[in-house]
Amino acid sequence: MSSLKPEIVEKIKSLILLYPAKQAVTLPALHLVQDQERCVSQQAIVEIAALLELSPAEIHDTMSFYGFFKTELNPLGKCRLWVCRSLACDLRGADDLLNKLINKLGVAPGQTTKDGMFTLEEAECIGACEGAPCVLINDVHCHNVSDADRLIDDIRKSFRL
Ligand code: FES
Repeated sequence: MSSLKPEIVEKIKSLILLYPAKQAVTLPALHLVQDQERCVSQQAIVEIAALLELSPAEIHDTMSFYGFFKTELNPLGKCRLWVCRSLACDLRGADDLLNKLINKLGVAPGQTTKDGMFTLEEAECIGACEGAPCVLINDVHCHNVSDADRLIDDIRKSFRL
């Protein structure tokens, strides 16, 4: 049974036309699948490989090299919450913020809450040092974050979680 939605297959096929080699579409394809499915399953790896005329092992190698992608054993929550721990954020309390989030959500970095709402992550500099300490909420920066309770409440409201 096919795992990739038809629209994802069509997007991957359209990307193939933009690159000189199908292999170059590996990362964009992995992102497309994870964005939609919140993970890249073994079946999705097989199907991406078939589309790109590669072996599933080649897709898996790329996927595991980056550590960004999740398998079906550990899928992303609706909200992937990255806490920056690089220098500027660290100096302005990121470690304290991360510990509060660990306690509030009841998960360690890299894990997803039981309700499937939040995946907590640690990040290196996310390019918003002027707003330290900052977090990335999926793809959106949030600056000067010090109140973990308020952060989670605001996210729940905006995601209607
Ligand atoms: S150090 Fe945190 S965004 Fe740069």
